[in-house]
Amino acid sequence: MEFKTLCCAGLMLMFFFPTVFCCDRCLHKSKVSYYSSSQTVNGACGYESFATALNRGNVATASAKIYREGVGCGGCYQIRCTDPAICSKSGVKVVVSDFTRSNQTDFVLPSSTFSMLAQPTKSSMLVKMGIVDIEYKRMPCEYPGKNMTVKIDKISNYPNFLAVQFLYQGGQTDIMGVEVAPVGTSNWKFMTRNHGAVWSMQQPPEGPMSLRLHVTSGYDGFWVWAKGAVLPSDWKVGSIYDSGVQIKEIAQEGCSPCDSQDWDLSL
Ligand SMILES: *[C@@H]1O[C@H](CO)[C@@H](O)[C@H](O)[C@H]1NC(C)=O
Ligand SMILES: *[C@@H]1O[C@H](CO)[C@@H](O)[C@H](O)[C@H]1NC(C)=O
Repeated sequence: MEFKTLCCAGLMLMFFFPTVFCCDRCLHKSKVSYYSSSQTVNGACGYESFATALNRGNVATASAKIYREGVGCGGCYQIRCTDPAICSKSGVKVVVSDFTRSNQTDFVLPSSTFSMLAQPTKSSMLVKMGIVDIEYKRMPCEYPGKNMTVKIDKISNYPNFLAVQFLYQGGQTDIMGVEVAPVGTSNWKFMTRNHGAVWSMQQPPEGPMSLRLHVTSGYDGFWVWAKGAVLPSDWKVGSIYDSGVQIKEIAQEGCSPCDSQDWDLSL
């Protein structure tokens, strides 16, 4: 609700552009292709092997406009191909984990995920086509029963260099800022986006740390507070810590056409 208000306030400032609407979801047309499943999952976002855990391996390599220099990492998209003779109505939901320079498609999928765009008996036909027309829209990420977690990235060097990434990022927003502070203080120090989904800082605070994330999309944002000792004083490379919070908000986008209907996912 908060986001709706913000969006409409934004719109009033932009009344010179009356074709812009507030959307839960914008509908886009594009193309998708696939890479062979033998290709290692080691995407630009830096999730490494966790990419396969995030969404049962239904991850996507995304073009520059979706990847957005890492801001788009962890975003969820519903993709369906548009040939009614071959394609399923529901398509497939993917999580962005990698970047492609391709200017022919907005998404490149693992072949197993690509096949899921087809009707059950038609996946080999689809795979033979190689590149197909699609509709896609951003969707909220849903990780039922899971909090967002903080993983200490492999480029960290205890205690002088801290790099983190967030796994199981729910909702439909972008993480635009990350700050840490010693628990119970307001000495917030900011991290910067290192690459992909990885945020880093030199000389992190000593002792247990709280985090806060500045989360936004388009018009305005808010802070998500992970209070308490989210990171212990002896944080370790590769360890995963529970943030104790989850993002559920859906940021409004400005676009036309809107498509707020969920596709029939039961098919
Ligand atoms: C797409 O990329 C290729 C090489 O990566 C380039 O030769 C071509 O001009 C590009 N096409 C467009 C439309 O930008
Ligand atoms: C999520 O965080 C809350 C604290 O905010 C905690 O009580 C709960 O156990 C956590 N859930 C999971 C699944 O870890």
